[in-house]
Amino acid sequence: MVENVHNYGGRWTEEKLDRVSAYLKAYLNVLKNQEFTRFYIDAFAGTPYYEPGEARKAADYADNLPGMQEPESVGLRRGSVKRALDIEPGFDRHIFIEKNARFAEELSMLRDQFQQKDISIRRGDCNAEIERLCEDDWKQKRYRGVLFLDPYGMQVEWRTIKTIAQTEAIDMWLLLPLGAVNRLLPRSYAPPEPWAKRLTTFFGTDEWRNAFYMEDEQTDLFESDPSFKKRTTVTGISRYFVERLQTIFGNGLAKEPLVLTNTRGIPLYLLCFACSNPNPKARAIALQIAEHILKDKP
Ligand SMILES: C[S@@+](CC[C@H](N)C(=O)[O-])C[C@H]1O[C@@H](n2cnc3c(N)ncnc32)[C@H](O)[C@@H]1O
Repeated sequence: MVENVHNYGGRWTEEKLDRVSAYLKAYLNVLKNQEFTRFYIDAFAGTPYYEPGEARKAADYADNLPGMQEPESVGLRRGSVKRALDIEPGFDRHIFIEKNARFAEELSMLRDQFQQKDISIRRGDCNAEIERLCEDDWKQKRYRGVLFLDPYGMQVEWRTIKTIAQTEAIDMWLLLPLGAVNRLLPRSYAPPEPWAKRLTTFFGTDEWRNAFYMEDEQTDLFESDPSFKKRTTVTGISRYFVERLQTIFGNGLAKEPLVLTNTRGIPLYLLCFACSNPNPKARAIALQIAEHILKDKP
C-alpha cells in the first residue's frame, strides 16, 4: 500500500530519471569486479513512487477495482530511490536524504521491502547531510559512489558541490533549476538584496552580477545609483553554471548537459554530470558513459 505519494513532475521527470538510472546500471557494471564499497546517495529522495499530474484521477478510479492497487497500475511512477533499489545486483550502501517527515517515513518502509539491502535514511537538509557524509575519507576507505541532486529549486548550495568534488570519489548528477534562477533575475533592475544573496549562495560568487547584468545607459544623470538591465537568457545562465562547475571539476565535467523542457518547449532544468575522481582512466570511462546518456535517450 502506498500511503504518502509525492505529487509532482511531468514528462521531464521521466526523462531525467531514465538517464540517471541508465548511468547507475552502467556504473555498477563497470565496478562489478572491483573492491570498492559502492554507495548510492539520493540527496532529494522524495518517495518510492511519485504521481505526475494526470495520474490522480486514475488512482481514485482504480482504488475501487479489485486487483488494481499495484502502484504502477494506478499511474504511479517509480521515483529515483525505487529505481536504484530495483537494480540487481545493486549498490552496497544506499543513503536517502529527505527533508519532509512524511516522505522520510514512506522511505523507511522500503527497509521491509528490501531487507537484504543496506538502506540509511537521513531526515534533514541535504547541504548539512552531504557535508557530514563527505567528512569521511572516501579514497582511503575505498568508497566510491554516485550522488543524485534532484531539487525542485535552488536548495543546493555551491559549498556543497565543492565538498562533493573534494571527495575525489563521487560521481554527481545534478539538476540545475533554470526556471527558478531565471525568476530571480528581473529584466529591468538588479535583483533585490535577499534574491541577490540567494544567487550568491547558489553560484558561490557574486560574479553573476557582471555575467547577467549591465549598467543601463538610460540611467538618469541625476540619479545617485546606476540602474541595471538584464543581459542574459536561460542559455546564458546554463553556460555560466557550466563554467562555474568547470572551476571545480575541470575536465571531469560533461560539457554538454541536457536541457529539460516542459510540453511547450520551455526550458525548466539542466541535467548536469561531473566525475570527481581525478584518476584519468576512471574519469574517461565515467564521462564516456554519461555523455552518451546525456546525448541519446536511453
Ligand atoms: C524533486 S523532488 C525529488 C524527487 C525524487 N528524486 C524522485 O525521483 O521522486 C525534491 C524532494 O526534495 C525534498 N527536499 C526539499 N528541500 C530539501 C532539502 N533542502 N534537503 C533535502 N530534501 C529536500 C522535497 O521534500 C522533495 O521530496
